[in-house]
Amino acid sequence: MRHGGLKMYLETKSVRQVENFNLDWFFCHTDCDFTPGEPPTKDFRPVKLPHDWSMEYPFNENADSCGSGGYVETGVGWYRKVFRIAPEALNDGRVMIHFESAYMNTQVWINGKYLGRHVYGYTPFGWDITDVANHDGSENIIDVKVDNSAQPSSRWYSGSGITRNVWIYGVKRLHVAPYGVWVHQPEVTKEQAKLIVETQVCMSSADLSDGDKALKAGKICVETCIYTPDGTLCVQERTQDGRNIDGERIIFTQDICVKAPRLWDISDPALYKVKTSVWENEELQDEVELMTGFMSAVFDSNKGFLLNGKRVKLNGVCIHHDGGCAGAAVHPQIWERRLEKLKNMGANAVRMSHNPPDPALLDLCDRMGLLVMDEAFDEWRILKSKELGSNTHESRGYSEWFDSCHEQDLRTMLMRDRNHPGIILWSIGNEVPEQTAAQGYLTARHLRDICKEMDPDRAVTQANDQICAEPAAATQEFLDELDVVGYNYVNRWRTRAETLYDDDKRANPGWCVIGTENSSIGGVRGKYQLGMQEKAGWWKWPYYSAPVAVGRLLRFTMTHDYVAGDFMWTGIDYLGEAHWPGRSSSAGVLDTCGYEKDGYYFYQSIWKQREPMAHLLPHWNMDVEKGTIIQALGYTNCEYAELFLNGRSYGKKAYSYPAYGMTQYYGHFDKEPIPVNTDNLFLSWDVPYEPGCIELVGYRDGIDVVRHTVKTAGTPAAIRVTCFRQR
Ligand code: GAL
Repeated sequence: MRHGGLKMYLETKSVRQVENFNLDWFFCHTDCDFTPGEPPTKDFRPVKLPHDWSMEYPFNENADSCGSGGYVETGVGWYRKVFRIAPEALNDGRVMIHFESAYMNTQVWINGKYLGRHVYGYTPFGWDITDVANHDGSENIIDVKVDNSAQPSSRWYSGSGITRNVWIYGVKRLHVAPYGVWVHQPEVTKEQAKLIVETQVCMSSADLSDGDKALKAGKICVETCIYTPDGTLCVQERTQDGRNIDGERIIFTQDICVKAPRLWDISDPALYKVKTSVWENEELQDEVELMTGFMSAVFDSNKGFLLNGKRVKLNGVCIHHDGGCAGAAVHPQIWERRLEKLKNMGANAVRMSHNPPDPALLDLCDRMGLLVMDEAFDEWRILKSKELGSNTHESRGYSEWFDSCHEQDLRTMLMRDRNHPGIILWSIGNEVPEQTAAQGYLTARHLRDICKEMDPDRAVTQANDQICAEPAAATQEFLDELDVVGYNYVNRWRTRAETLYDDDKRANPGWCVIGTENSSIGGVRGKYQLGMQEKAGWWKWPYYSAPVAVGRLLRFTMTHDYVAGDFMWTGIDYLGEAHWPGRSSSAGVLDTCGYEKDGYYFYQSIWKQREPMAHLLPHWNMDVEKGTIIQALGYTNCEYAELFLNGRSYGKKAYSYPAYGMTQYYGHFDKEPIPVNTDNLFLSWDVPYEPGCIELVGYRDGIDVVRHTVKTAGTPAAIRVTCFRQR
């Protein structure tokens, strides 16, 4: 193992030095154990973090991760890095190391000394390494063991390795704690944002009594400066009034008011910068910055969801954490491209299913005006099956670790994420079997209490798939624990498919309700199944049926205010939850490469009304005899549309949402009424197949404003690759 230039860290002289620690790592994927700090007995190869070794091997039908995990290699990986810390860096201060996450069961050593273990693969962790690292400029060795060998451990692709960024930072002995600033917003209106800014300051243990004395003598002070979205300083306040909470941390609390704030909204995601500085005897000790926004988010049992006092229907998508072929180590630009597309479809909300997401993804949502449901767990104490595609493996999972880890994991997620303005809901779980268990509500209560303690204002939900289910349904006690009752697949059982939420609304008028997960129009891009198909107990509907059921639920959600909205499953295809030779689920409206499938345009036609659009399917290379009737479907937001095959019209059609009625006086319409011929949210024509060109033309005010043409394709000629964005 060669160490190249052996980088020196923390050389600059600012009060807080934060440096990216992603480069110059070495990696070995092996079952052998190494002695941390000692020369390795096997070959390590250079890698750059974030890193996901599961993406480096061919997919394997017999992999322990099974179809659930995406048929990938998992196992154990060791990482090592040799680095130096500049001798002048310490300056009576501390050095910390911070991992944004690693999947999973990670143990860390510095110079052979054990720092500890972190199990959950999606939450951040770190240590103060001052006492174990050399800071005289000599070499340090960090060893990281990531153990993802307990398989199958995930119902989706988890990835393996140090999958997010690592940071090293140097601070003075008096410094802001990790995620130590909380801009709590108990009351926000357009007149003022009333804030409680809480700052946790750490004193290192060596000088506790000095620190305490300094605090009591009023010598330690915290200053909060707030800058408007255009960079103007609008608040500058200091306080000496700290409370020593456990001998090591002081909490400073400031009541701050921002007058006439520019509210954060989905159409104007205005972000304010909050700069916190810590002073001792008028000498600067630490300085940190964060971005936040001011907004009010309220769930109401009758009105649904109110953003800044206005009703907003949540047009949501669920997503998983992987980036397609990037695996679990996802560059933020991948997310940016995907989110831009989803936003352009008309989505205004994202559910981070089923784990704390990459912080870069949350930053993007804040910046792009996307609301977020932030989810902590898929599993509590009761194990869930992860054996899709296998009958030889026994499932493993977070349930093994729940008792020892959940409290810290949940608190860490809340501390990390609570300044994000986009987050409107904390989710404590997804489809946990505890929902139907007699004592399950006690765990729900306990997790909800943690959320409320850390963030009293945001609502808490759990995504329940058993509210109406046989043979066992979710208990009333369990659902009563939730501020917002989350429904997964509300229309799954019997005739409920038609009555949807209404029965529960009558029985529980005080509940706030939301569709936390419901089917979307998935399918493989370019593949059109003509009849029903059953495989391994899973039914697949033909392409022309999918928008019927999805549209029925969508129409219900849109026309019933008390349903806050819906998160469809899923915005993007994700790795795992697959049947061999598939490697990914095809539930998304974008595929794993971020390309739009037909379903994307279905949602766009309903959620985006302004620019006219029309989309036509299926492709026109059908393997059927000439004259076979093929259903051509049209998604449009125009008043009506007309279908042409090889220049011949098959007639104009219209659907009824949003329908318009009479104006001014009985019998008068502003526009000539359009004869509708379906209650679906899409149009359909029976067309006798012949190769050629099929075209959908959309009309507004009698004018053809948009068209989509599909031609019978010849043999492929070339592949063109273009870059998403040059930067
Ligand atoms: C849901 C579950 C998702 C996914 C989906 C099926 O019940 O919450 O994680 O498994 O079913 O594709």
